[in-house]
Amino acid sequence: MLLGQKILLVIGGGIAACKCLDLIRRLRERGASVTPVMTRAAEEFVTPLSVSVLAGQKVYRDLFDLTDEAEMGHIQLSRAADLVLVAPATAELMAKMAHGIASDLATTLLMATDKRVMIAPAMNVRMWDHAATRRNLATLKEDGVLVAGPNEGPMACGEIGPGRMAEVYQIVDAIGHALVCGPLRNRHIIVTSGPTHEPIDPVRYIANRSSGAQGRAIADALAGLGAAVRFITGPVNTEMPEGALVTRVKTAQEMLEAVQGALPADAAVFAAAVADWRVAQQATSKIRKDGSGRPPGLEFVENPDILATVAQMASGRPRLVVGFAAETDDVIANATAKRKRKGCDWIIANDVSPETGILGGAENDVTLIHGTGTEDWPRMTKELVAHRLATRIAEVLNG
Ligand code: C5P
Repeated sequence: MLLGQKILLVIGGGIAACKCLDLIRRLRERGASVTPVMTRAAEEFVTPLSVSVLAGQKVYRDLFDLTDEAEMGHIQLSRAADLVLVAPATAELMAKMAHGIASDLATTLLMATDKRVMIAPAMNVRMWDHAATRRNLATLKEDGVLVAGPNEGPMACGEIGPGRMAEVYQIVDAIGHALVCGPLRNRHIIVTSGPTHEPIDPVRYIANRSSGAQGRAIADALAGLGAAVRFITGPVNTEMPEGALVTRVKTAQEMLEAVQGALPADAAVFAAAVADWRVAQQATSKIRKDGSGRPPGLEFVENPDILATVAQMASGRPRLVVGFAAETDDVIANATAKRKRKGCDWIIANDVSPETGILGGAENDVTLIHGTGTEDWPRMTKELVAHRLATRIAEVLNG
């Protein structure tokens, strides 16, 4: 199941480090190779010799070990893997990862890697519940780090609650899911989502009612098929997708810059409800009533069209560019014209008239418009729309 997969295993310093011996054995049984890296603290719980024997490889321990640098530098070590697994991920390791602290070999590898990273947290229940760990976990998730566990139950320290490292079989399953199950493995896909906020003055802005639910579901579905997803979102209150690298923006211009910074990509899905216009001159202080009863005159300029910009790139264009068309009348005709005008491959058209309940709702009713016709999909949840779209994208990219 994991045949030929290369796992770089960073073993942190906690009692759960003992489970790593079994973890290495199970990963190798499934055909993976395991390159172990141990922190100093991990060596207090399990010996490098036993780790090395079970892994069938030397254990990397020290950033300044010149022999290792001569054999394989830490950058190369971090990139030779298909996945970097941190188990147990202690509160300290999570904090260092969240803050980009590279103070030893393990944390330097984690900063240098361009591969997927999974953590299996293990710590005392109060440490797990601590506000600092909550913050670090949220940051790591937004950085696209995958999280296996922790489980609830009695812990080595005598307390009961969440904080036990996930069982070995659960970690192995999660790795299998992240590495193998996806037809979009090794594909990089950009998803824009949510509204944009266009400032008028320091306290006011122009926005729209997009909840970001459809974009988030699409990012979730693509990541679920193994894609490396860059999720670029305007201000929303929804949870961020699992396993996607999140970039938060406010304005259309920021969104365009984030998209350009995330290229190249195999595909791009533009689900964001980008404001068409922004105020030409943002006031530097709050606009006040002047007593005349006359409202202030706001001058607007057009925002960059992110979808059209990417779809019409002369070189480096993603193979598949997908746009959305939220319409209130003549849905198909308008969306078909929009596909042509913007130069994208597909348009997902939907009717967002208030009576449909789609904007801000849980369901969507879409038509996929491509170069050779239209496909009317039945009304279904936004998650199912996302799944169907992700599957279709996988077919195109693998076709
Ligand atoms: O022109 P309209 O806003 O209806 O087009 C909708 C599609 O274009 C969506 O996919 C949206 O994400 C994208 N778009 C964009 N940049 C804009 C306006 C729309 O990417 N400035």
